[in-house]
Amino acid sequence: MIIDGQESVTVAVRGAIASTPDPRLREVMDALVQHLHAFIRDVRPTEAEFEHGLEFLAAIGRACTDTHNEAVLFSDAIGASTLVCLLNNGQDGATETAAALLGPFWRDNSPATPDGGSIVRSATPGAPLFARGSVRGPDGAPVAGARVDVWQASPAGMYENQDPAQSDMNLRGRFATDAEGQFRFTSVRPAGYPVPTHGPVGDMLRAQQRHPYRPAHLHFLIHKPGFKTLVTQVFVDDDEHLESDVVFGVTRALVGGFERHDGPAPGGGAGEWFSLDYSFTLEPGEARLPRPPIA
Ligand code: BEZ
Ligand code: FE
Repeated sequence: MIIDGQESVTVAVRGAIASTPDPRLREVMDALVQHLHAFIRDVRPTEAEFEHGLEFLAAIGRACTDTHNEAVLFSDAIGASTLVCLLNNGQDGATETAAALLGPFWRDNSPATPDGGSIVRSATPGAPLFARGSVRGPDGAPVAGARVDVWQASPAGMYENQDPAQSDMNLRGRFATDAEGQFRFTSVRPAGYPVPTHGPVGDMLRAQQRHPYRPAHLHFLIHKPGFKTLVTQVFVDDDEHLESDVVFGVTRALVGGFERHDGPAPGGGAGEWFSLDYSFTLEPGEARLPRPPIA
């Protein structure tokens, strides 16, 4: 069709994609074109602003490597990841859920670690943490034999893949729930840390005068055929950034009770240590593993 004015561009594009054989691709792209064209009519970007926007997208691509995923970081920092998560969990967004965004740092090959074992694999600062998780199904029954991946940043502020000072797979482990649906591990109490700000997302945060911090948390991925894979995070209850997480991941259900103790610790040693007891409830659905954001 010959374009005879700004209104007709939308009609032309929708017509051009109308015979896409895959019905879901057709639906998604048609909605994208309608919303994007409406956004452009609303915002009326100048040509210079449009170039700037396209350059921002290209910079996101250039910043992605095997060990860094700027695209996931961008989606997280504008709340898109949390929105998708909340719409796909908790009975399609109708009720509270234990799920949270995956983030850019899950690796699909964490070392299998025995129940109660430590995920500290090289010198790491921080008070000892003794964590116990209980995994239950929608009916409240314990889920035995579930795969549980755990990962966290070093209290020094980085994940091991960002930090040559940590050994490979430091603060990552894979566990299996026992007959009571429980798993235990030893680590260090997590601390808050800034998301990477060396790329275009950092430029965006600075332009918006936003801080780059995430409240201290542990990540979990719980996978067992017959249940929807639970991807989630548990946050430290007294963190100063609980109300202002840069990636909007904190819900009330995900604030954990990190109890402080003084004196003899479970594995020997003395001084300050912490314990965490947390219950995870799986939802019905598909046991699908996400695509790992990094290798
Ligand atoms: C994280 O917690 O690992 C994370 C999540 C979103 C963006 C950056 C980091
Ligand atoms: Fe994290």
